[in-house]
Amino acid sequence: MTTCIEIRGLSKTYKNNKQLIEALKPIDLDVHQGEIFGLLGPNGAGKTTMIKLMLGIIAPTSGSCHILGQDISSLKAKELIGYLPENHRFPLYLNGQQMLEFYGNLGGMSGKTLQKRIDEVLEFVNMTEWRKLKIQRYSKGMMQRIGLAQALLNRPHLLFLDEPTDGIDPVGRMEIREILEVLKSEGTTIFVNSHLLSEVELITDRVAILRKGVVVKSGNTHELTQSRDQYIITLAGGTPPASLPGMTTYNAETREIELTAASPEALNAALDVLRQNNCLLATLSPKKSTLEEIFIALMSEKQEYLAPAK
Ligand SMILES: Nc1ncnc2c1ncn2[C@@H]1O[C@H](COP(=O)(O)OP(=O)(O)OP(=O)(O)O)[C@@H](O)[C@H]1O
Ligand SMILES: [Mg+2]
Repeated sequence: MTTCIEIRGLSKTYKNNKQLIEALKPIDLDVHQGEIFGLLGPNGAGKTTMIKLMLGIIAPTSGSCHILGQDISSLKAKELIGYLPENHRFPLYLNGQQMLEFYGNLGGMSGKTLQKRIDEVLEFVNMTEWRKLKIQRYSKGMMQRIGLAQALLNRPHLLFLDEPTDGIDPVGRMEIREILEVLKSEGTTIFVNSHLLSEVELITDRVAILRKGVVVKSGNTHELTQSRDQYIITLAGGTPPASLPGMTTYNAETREIELTAASPEALNAALDVLRQNNCLLATLSPKKSTLEEIFIALMSEKQEYLAPAK
């Protein structure tokens, strides 16, 4: 697996008059090429600080960040990046086409090359028919799609998205998810910063959760939300015996059994007991905890129990 972002001992301490604010304690993090990586955390956790460090907008207090082997302070690294900021303020008096021309020019593109690329990105984000409409008339979803088109102009290898689906309705969110999935299938690495945990759960391969400048949890999104020894069994008929090994709850209305089983043997033993009691099994699935539950549990833990910063 190729590393796209390599962060080593990266930290940021802001100095306000004489007060020092440790916004990011030294962290190590790898983001792999071609994955969608989510950065989560409550207000003030250090997410924006981290994105600004990765974009080379602010200088680190310590440590380093490389994008595909290039130091983030280099122009080469910046050429590999596309960025959709949070609360962007695109000039409202321009139409979509003009806005893309403006940002294309800023990025050093012009003439036929730029026009061709604008056609491509507009088509890609499904905004071709709205290109002549002034941005001030765009819906929030259209605004984010044209923002994505802007971030894609330079064919970035790595895309930074700050709250890309904030304030967008479910259909608009699905459209953005679909665009991100296509980009991913083409090999683009995507780093997304979001408060919408259910959304992050749907699109990310891996996540890191920041709290007070420390990564308190990171890992594969699927594995994090998969709780290994808890299962939900639904019955199509019959009633489970109260003595069913491992059963924690039974809802007679939905016929759902919640069961804890530490091994496949224990799980199968419980299923045998159900069958012996003439229960008809309809479904069996591992119980998932949502990212939101994990997030809330982590945020309510006391600081001293959390993993120390490396
Ligand atoms: N320019 C700055 N000068 C001084 N302190 C700052 C500066 N920028 C951020 N901070 C402080 O650093 C900490 C982390 O802020 P940051 O903006 O990175 O958090 P965040 O996770 O992005 O929060 P939010 O979810 O509210 O956007 C906060 O305590 C914040 O007050
Ligand atoms: Mg922020």
